[in-house]
Amino acid sequence: MIGVFDSGYGGLTVLKEILKALPQYDYLYLGDNARTPYGNRSKETVTRFTDEAVRFLFENGARLIIIACYTASALALRELQEKYLRSPKSKYRDRKILGVIRPIVETAVTETKSNRIGVVGTRGTITSKAFEVELKNQFAALERSLDIKLTVVSQACPLLVPLIEEHWHTKPEARMILRKYLRPLKSHNIDTLILGCTHYPLMLRDFKRIMGKRTRVLDSGKTVAESLKNYLAWHPEIECQLTKEGKRAFYTTDDPERFREFTKTFAGITIPTQSCRAVCL
Ligand code: DGL
Repeated sequence: MIGVFDSGYGGLTVLKEILKALPQYDYLYLGDNARTPYGNRSKETVTRFTDEAVRFLFENGARLIIIACYTASALALRELQEKYLRSPKSKYRDRKILGVIRPIVETAVTETKSNRIGVVGTRGTITSKAFEVELKNQFAALERSLDIKLTVVSQACPLLVPLIEEHWHTKPEARMILRKYLRPLKSHNIDTLILGCTHYPLMLRDFKRIMGKRTRVLDSGKTVAESLKNYLAWHPEIECQLTKEGKRAFYTTDDPERFREFTKTFAGITIPTQSCRAVCL
């Protein structure tokens, strides 16, 4: 079983693309809706919440977990990989935990021509500098001349998640706010923009329109799905442990009925009543 975790609904934009690319596997989705959003919380809090989610998914049969939340990937992934996959005390050392930052960073550094990349995300993701560090590491690994420097311009957009969850993202007010957030990125002449938050693909068209033709906007869901496909092709020892009966189970830490309704409008995924349950982490 593949476990997919997010602070709430956002990871559904990632799950949707994974299901398209790899429909044959069984999936377990967990949304921590009762404690969402994670975007403004401290590293300690996000790590504690994500730790509880990872434990739940492992205990319920996940062999591989995708932390589909950018904030949790930025703030908690490293520590949890250490705890669950490398500590001799862990009983889950044969399992895997993957984040969503690396795949999109790999695409960004190979595609940029001007070596000027922009990143947008929650406040937690941007202040952690996780993207900046990963981008600079990957860029250096590409064996480019040492004289060439990578410029990373980051911008937190904390108002976008609530606007999207309220379905206000199609309103002119939301576009006005987005335009204001993107102004500094536009003035830095970036040619690649990473949408480092699960919710932002819902405003993809607006991001593209505001940034203009010369900036490529990278939509994360598809990139993560493609990267998972490649990962499984390269790791048959993990792939063979994944069950393939097409099962989908959804868990939320809040109201399952609300979760089912929102999932349909937010990601176009229809969940039968019996496949969605409430859990306490
Ligand atoms: N899922 C979060 C992310 O991708 C956005 C929502 C939240 O702040 O919890 O960063």
